Formats: sequence, structure tokens, C-alpha cells
Amino acid sequence: MGKREKIYEGKAKILYSTDDPNLVIQYFKDEATAFDGKKRGVIQEKGRVNNQISAKVFETLESQKISTHYVKTLSETEMLVKRLEMFPLEVVLRNIATGSISKRLGIEEGVTFENPVLEYYLKNDALGDPLLNRSHIQVLGLASEKAVDEMEDLTLRINRVLLPFFLERVVKLVDFKLEFGRLDGEILLGDEVSPDTCRFWDAGSETIQRLDKDRFRKDLGGEQEAYLEMYERVCN
Ligand code: TMP
Repeated sequence: MGKREKIYEGKAKILYSTDDPNLVIQYFKDEATAFDGKKRGVIQEKGRVNNQISAKVFETLESQKISTHYVKTLSETEMLVKRLEMFPLEVVLRNIATGSISKRLGIEEGVTFENPVLEYYLKNDALGDPLLNRSHIQVLGLASEKAVDEMEDLTLRINRVLLPFFLERVVKLVDFKLEFGRLDGEILLGDEVSPDTCRFWDAGSETIQRLDKDRFRKDLGGEQEAYLEMYERVCN
């Protein structure tokens, strides 16, 4: 599968075209950003870890009949994926309060929600990825009501598969962000599922031990070790 030209470069990944117009190569970078790109750095081996954790997660979801863009792994840092028409939305699911919901609504970090909380954000760095409700999605013409229902249903199903998947690896799936796209009328999961886009807490600790990008966002140190620990627990 020959790599052709760069078709898109995001903050954490680059997409390359291939000789098949329906397939693209997703390359994972070591570069890390936070706060809409205002904070920048590098986490050594992050690309390799995120590619391989994402691959394992996509394979697990596919085995449960949840469609994703994943086709196969090409190298340590690259996967072949189906080309989707992406919705400019981030769908966030929260099992435990932390991050922006704790800040915005004053909910103490660590509180477990009885039912998962779903949120939508507009993918727009210039606007700071604002929180959206369903009316905003309609007024901006970002996705039909039916498509939002489908993404919501898929996100809840993905949570039901991934909660036990990570718990078996002694990891609490605190929250995560998904991006979806369309292919031939079907909605598929795209992007990545990794320590960049999920919050993972060690389930074997009494206190909060963060195994995700919060170590970078909050300047806690030990980010490479946290990513490698997640790689060990998920891929080995
Ligand atoms: P938040 O608490 O900062 O809103 O983050 C919720 C989840 O979304 C968390 O798992 C981290 C993930 N996330 C991203 O993947 N990209 C982003 O730009 C942000 C802000 C959060």
C-alpha cells in the first residue's frame, strides 16, 4: 500500500492518501498539544503507543459488531483506515467526573455517574472547541437528528464494550472522546482511541494514578512512563 501525498495534518496525526481512493494511512506523531494547541511538547514513543492501543481497541469493537474505520496495522506508527466523511464533532462520554465537567459544574473529581454523561463539542480550535447541545448541532447543520441518535447509541455501546476491556487490564475508563464519520450511509467510528483521547486511572490504586495525557496537560511528569504502562497493559 504505497503512501502518496499528505491530505491532512492534525495536531497528533497525519493522513496520507494511498493508491486506493477509499483508503488512507493514519500516521501517529510523538508531538503532544493541549489547550487547543497553546501548549506543545513531545512524548517519546507516543505515536507507537497510540497507534497500537487504537488498533487493539478497534479490533475489539469490530469483534462486537461495532463498525470502525480500522483496516489493518501497517507499521509501529501507522494504520490503514477507511476514508470517512467526518462530522466536525467530538462526542465525549464520562463515567467519572474530572476535567472540564468538574470545573464547569463544580462536581468533585472522582464522583462516579449513575448513568454515563454524554456531551458534544464543536471541532474548532479557533473557537476553543465549544460545548454544543443538540439544538446547536441542528442550527449549525453539523449532523441530522437521526445521525446524532446513532452516534449517541454507538458511544454508549462502545462504553459497554470498553469498560470491561480496560477493567480486565486494571484500568478505569474515566472518560473518552470519539469522532465519527460517514461511509456509504453508515456511521463508523474514526480517529483514535488512546491515552490522548481517553482518561485512564489505575484501578489498583486508592488514590488517583493517571495513565493518560493529563500527565502532560497538568505538568505532572512521567507521561512517557504512563503511555508505556498503558501499552503493556493493553497490547501485551
Ligand atoms: P475534558 O474533561 O477536558 O472536556 O475532556 C473530556 C475527554 O475528552 C477526556 O477523555 C479527554 C478528551 N479530550 C480530547 O480527546 N481532546 C480534547 O481536545 C479535549 C479537550 C479532551
